Amino acid sequence: MASEKKVAENMLWGGRFTEGLDPIMEQYNASLPYDRIFYAQDIAGSIAFARANYNNGILTAEEFSAIQRGLQQVKEEWANGTFQVKPNDEDIHTANERRLSEIVGKEIGGKLHTGRSRNEQIATDMRLWLREELRRLEGYLKDLIKVAVARAEREIDVLIPGYTHLQKAQPVRWSHWLLSHATGFAAELDRLREVIKRVNRSPLGCGALAGNPFNIDREAMAKELGFDGLLYNSLNAVGDRDFVFETLQWGSSFMLKISRWAEDLIIYSSLEFGFVRLADAYSTGSSLMPQKKNADSLELIRGKSGRAFGHMAGLYCTIKGLPTTYNKDLQESVEPLLDHIKTVGDSMLIATGVLSTLTIFPDKMRAALAPEMLATEFADYLVRKGVPFREGHHISGRVVALAEKEGVPMDQLSLEQLKSVDARLGDDVLECLDYERAVELKSAVGGTSKSAVREQIEVLKGLIG
Ligand code: ARG
Repeated sequence: MASEKKVAENMLWGGRFTEGLDPIMEQYNASLPYDRIFYAQDIAGSIAFARANYNNGILTAEEFSAIQRGLQQVKEEWANGTFQVKPNDEDIHTANERRLSEIVGKEIGGKLHTGRSRNEQIATDMRLWLREELRRLEGYLKDLIKVAVARAEREIDVLIPGYTHLQKAQPVRWSHWLLSHATGFAAELDRLREVIKRVNRSPLGCGALAGNPFNIDREAMAKELGFDGLLYNSLNAVGDRDFVFETLQWGSSFMLKISRWAEDLIIYSSLEFGFVRLADAYSTGSSLMPQKKNADSLELIRGKSGRAFGHMAGLYCTIKGLPTTYNKDLQESVEPLLDHIKTVGDSMLIATGVLSTLTIFPDKMRAALAPEMLATEFADYLVRKGVPFREGHHISGRVVALAEKEGVPMDQLSLEQLKSVDARLGDDVLECLDYERAVELKSAVGGTSKSAVREQIEVLKGLIG
């Protein structure tokens, strides 16, 4: 095995090491297979750092421009797939620096890292990358809400049973259901915008832990990289992964909501409900049962939410016992983050696709409305005649009981039968059996009447701009 060991002197940090790495250790230690995704961010950070060191008098104008040109070439090599990974390229930072030195020579390349640490580099790279990803996801989330709002506007006349405990409760507009989820997604949009602000802070110039010894202009580097501001404590800046936690919390919260949304649609698309049908593009068949059309897209959304929560819980466990500032354990924050962003982003795209291509069956929805869902209307009717609600509730309960006793749905009771329950149920009581009326009566803000639903549409439109 010894012969396979790499000579540590060749590693960028190899000065004090005499023995090489065990090959398994080398692979265990390496993050390049996944942190190469940050190549452009790493190079942008290096150019900003070199510029600041030039302005500090640490690099000459010629050295800076050689480094800048060299790094640009490294970036092109990554972009066009010609970058040659070498065995000692431990991570994206060492790989980029090694290649830079090959291009511009060790004399100049070796000056890039003056006053700098990979600890600040990885934190900077991750934040820069994440900022862009979160902005992309913000766009996806807005699109999802947009589709829900557009359907809500178009399909405002359609009624469905509203459920509590998955029991038929009161009639509501289909649009109200659409907007209920869109409102939850909008809360995530709001949170996301907050998260982005805190992600977009610069740790660059904090060194390995103690700060920069050459009075580097951190503000200038932050500005060049498009950061909104600085992290103000170097120990904190290099050991902090709040920006990852917050992202994973946010993503988990979104996945929790989209999972419940998916569950509703899985139920609504079952043969028993038949309210909606998924487009072929988002369903699959069974290899055994030809009649089956499965809502795989929705089941995957529901399933992947568990995976997203796992990223969050896993990272909490990884970090909870770490001593102050950078420890190699922090490298383990990268992969969960990458997978989380992909999972959440893909789920948003799939959800938007499902919702925009969904067929609804208003007749089926209407047929599922049951007269019992109007029982409360009798109590409300009596309240309008001055009867205390508790008493009205009792009387409407007796209407339900009578229908049960007669073995007929509530709307099959005759006017006389209704009147026999209580004398205050007058000739106009039959209006209580009108679903549309029941829905339109819920006109206070947030309700399911047409006007209240339209108000919600406006609120959401304001948020997605
Ligand atoms: N690949 C490392 C990471 O992702 C970069 C920082 C390495 N720092 C160190 N002191 N070994 O965390």
